Amino acid sequence: MTNSNRLIIFDTTLRDGEQSPGASMTREEKVRIARQLERLRVDVIEAGFAAASPGDFEAIRAIASVIKDSTICSLSRANERDIARAAEALLPAPRKRIHTFIATSPLHMQMKLRMSPEQVLDQARQAIRFARQYTDDIEFSPEDGSRSEEDFLCRVLEAVIAEGATTINFPDTVGYAVPEVFGETIRRLRERIPNSDKAIWSVHCHNDLGLAVANSLAGVTIGGARQIECTINGLGERAGNTALEEVVMAVRTRSDFFNLELGIDTTQIVAASKMVSQITGFAVQPNKAVVGANAFAHASGIHQDGMLKARETYEIMRAEDVGWAATKIVLGKLSGRNAFKQRLQELGIDLQSEEDVNAAFARFKELADRKSEIFDEDIMALVSDEEHASEGEHYRFVALAQQSETGKTPIAKVVFTMDGQEYSCEGEGDGPVDATVNAIEKQAASGAELVLFSINAISNGTESQGEVTMRLSRSGRIVNGVGSDPDIIVASAKAYLSGLNKLHSKIERVNPQL
Ligand code: KIV
Ligand code: ZN
Repeated sequence: MTNSNRLIIFDTTLRDGEQSPGASMTREEKVRIARQLERLRVDVIEAGFAAASPGDFEAIRAIASVIKDSTICSLSRANERDIARAAEALLPAPRKRIHTFIATSPLHMQMKLRMSPEQVLDQARQAIRFARQYTDDIEFSPEDGSRSEEDFLCRVLEAVIAEGATTINFPDTVGYAVPEVFGETIRRLRERIPNSDKAIWSVHCHNDLGLAVANSLAGVTIGGARQIECTINGLGERAGNTALEEVVMAVRTRSDFFNLELGIDTTQIVAASKMVSQITGFAVQPNKAVVGANAFAHASGIHQDGMLKARETYEIMRAEDVGWAATKIVLGKLSGRNAFKQRLQELGIDLQSEEDVNAAFARFKELADRKSEIFDEDIMALVSDEEHASEGEHYRFVALAQQSETGKTPIAKVVFTMDGQEYSCEGEGDGPVDATVNAIEKQAASGAELVLFSINAISNGTESQGEVTMRLSRSGRIVNGVGSDPDIIVASAKAYLSGLNKLHSKIERVNPQL
């Protein structure tokens, strides 16, 4: 099995990516991303951790009901309750996988699990035996694998393969590994474990030392792994996970070296990156490989000259191969409802009812009155707004007036609703955004702390909509509010209210790894 040249791409944006503070997504947002991952042709979509919360369970269920081409996976701790919950959420999926894990490092076993190695071994074995009644596609991860003792790993992994685990995923949970050592460890494990050839070996790396992609690739080339777990834009806890776009384009661009087959449609990469960034509020740094705005911009004169003579002088990938050229002006003021609806379909946006389409179309017309060219990114942003509105937001933006002049204190007046009642509040501040937030807080008195504020242009040019992310923190909970508008102060007000809405909703979720 492991000698095959096919490299399986396992995307965990919706599970490990979502564990990133502030990145939580609604069910509709997750379904939208899952559809894009299917268009990208990822082999496996880890849709969530079913036992984490009823919301997570429902999201996996919804994804399992609509995705046909990718295998849908749910994470579960190595216990019967979690595994049964995962199996139930996955019921509608034509192809399903249960991914169960337990920590195997001395530190995690003693300090976190308070279990002896023998107990961990026994629980791992029983978990696989229990999961087998639901599916033949079972993945096992020894959490904190890169800091676990090799002899113990050999015992656990041999046992779970014997019980029927079909994928062994080796995680560098805390991003501690270095490529050669990581790859060699996997190679030795495969060599030492007598039944290792009965499973596909996988890697799952975190980016704390900036080595996630390098470690994953070493796991493949040195270790012989044939599955990489990764996320779009490298989203994930702390410094994130292995970035899908980077491993995929490395393997494809250097196929002379890797000699591996991939099922990915790389032309869908940029759309996936933009969608994930827009939904989670995690902006992509301009110099990010493959999906950053500068990734294919050749600013220096020497490079431009070279590029004009022969593209290959300075470019190793073609922008269109990862989907950059696909961004186009799609609609304008005169576009009708049918054209709008068709574009929604092309973007994989499946609005629930005709009423939702009408509401989104009304927003589109409003935007088209203020902005002559409407891009795909504009449509995605307005659909997100519309989805939040239809979920019955507690806080809702209505209008804003704002004054700022050099030498004078900026003033903002914000009209918004709280639980359906309209309020009009004025505030002053050091700048117009500060005045806007102060105005909202006069009435909302939320007690939230703003911990991050960023503005990005959704598309090109000064006529672009501004997309604002405001990360708010309250009593240990962190959320990202996202708002977009051609007026960046309005976008800021929307982002702040969107953050307050997320804090207001009582999402209680268990982190699988705690
Ligand atoms: O990082 C990790 O160890 C994980 C496991 C659950 C695979 O995410
Ligand atoms: Zn992880």
